[in-house]
Amino acid sequence: MPTVAIIGGQWGDEGKGKIIDLLAENAQMVVRFSGGDNAGHTVINPLGEFRMHLIPSGIFYPGTVCIISNGVVINPAVLLSELDGLQKHGLDVSHLFVSDRAHLIMPYHTLLDGLEEQSRGQGAIGTTKKGIGPAYADKSARLGIRAGDLLDRDFFRQRLRSVLEYKNKILTKVYEAQPLSLDEVYEQYCQYGERLAPFIRETASMTHEALERGELVLLEGAQGTLLDLDFGTYPYVTSSSPLAGSACIGSGLGPTRIDSILGVFKAYNTRVGAGPMPTELTDETGDRIREHAHEYGTTTGRPRRCGWFDAVLARYSVRINGFTGIALTRLDILDILPRLNICTAYRIDGQTHSTPPSNSALLERSQPVYEEIPGWQSDTSHIRRFDDLPKKAQAYVRRIEELAGCPVAIISVGPAREQSIMVRPIL
Ligand code: IMP
Repeated sequence: MPTVAIIGGQWGDEGKGKIIDLLAENAQMVVRFSGGDNAGHTVINPLGEFRMHLIPSGIFYPGTVCIISNGVVINPAVLLSELDGLQKHGLDVSHLFVSDRAHLIMPYHTLLDGLEEQSRGQGAIGTTKKGIGPAYADKSARLGIRAGDLLDRDFFRQRLRSVLEYKNKILTKVYEAQPLSLDEVYEQYCQYGERLAPFIRETASMTHEALERGELVLLEGAQGTLLDLDFGTYPYVTSSSPLAGSACIGSGLGPTRIDSILGVFKAYNTRVGAGPMPTELTDETGDRIREHAHEYGTTTGRPRRCGWFDAVLARYSVRINGFTGIALTRLDILDILPRLNICTAYRIDGQTHSTPPSNSALLERSQPVYEEIPGWQSDTSHIRRFDDLPKKAQAYVRRIEELAGCPVAIISVGPAREQSIMVRPIL
């Protein structure tokens, strides 16, 4: 009954899609458990290059059941266009299921995300404007509309009427925007409901049954630990929990059912959107990494901020998630650099800190303490065994393990499935 959770260890975009695509080959089920279409996974496999926002990367294996579970917020238009794109490539999507408990992103959520960001002015979070924050806020405020509601039109209309009455007051009176029409939203979502009906069901019991059959289940995280609502760089965070702990609540599994928790880290750091990033490189090296690695957002196309590997945050992330192994991605990107730095501590107002402060203004003031590591300056993208990596690359990986306090299980040296080094078993 093994269950493996795959979790972002940094600010998202760590390459979780590639790792899940790799592991899904042996899995019978992949469950996406949090976030929404703010996430973007690029998967490159023999069928082509795919940018996925909601559908689990396991969809490419016909025998793998894929679930979008209760913890996800779903924009039905995005889900349907992703389904259309896959079907155009001749892929069978009948093994995808959507939880009836998953909340829906409604038109007022996307509108309000944009309006709220605008009203924050200089203090804008830099959200993806996909309506994620407003949708999770409504879930907590008990104003949400769930996928299962679309299957009962009378109930859906009744619910939409009362929520929309309130949302229209906010749109018109707070933001002086146009109100939304009940009939138009209702009709549009009924059409979505009709198309999505074959996929919607109670999914937690499907996962329990898979585990009872002894199948391998992957829990696919979205975003990363430092974007977590509680433990991230608040308020510059997303509105859900990308942590391993949330894999249970977001999928309906008890904490005792998770056997292995793989933390995915890039071999350097990136961040998209506003908020502190102590190891950010605003110089030529940062630009070189961005261009060489094509560090631009999958969802918004925004340039990602690039920086050195931050071991203070990595150790924090390992502890908060209880990682049992690390998947270190994009090691090959560092092939071009003559010298590397790893941040081992912060200096804040004259004091040395080995854990990050919770106050984002203090984190903004943190001066990274660096350990310099010589670069290996040779191509690693063709290497498939740890012992074949240049000695200096091995030393870099070993130092990350030591500082983070967790063994490296997988190293990725390129986007293709085969460009992977299996260092130790994940289970
Ligand atoms: P939101 O999730 O759209 O509300 O955005 C909140 C913050 O999280 C912003 O800084 C976004 O750039 C960031 N964010 C959300 N999803 C992702 C992701 O999948 N990768 C990287 N950053 C993300």
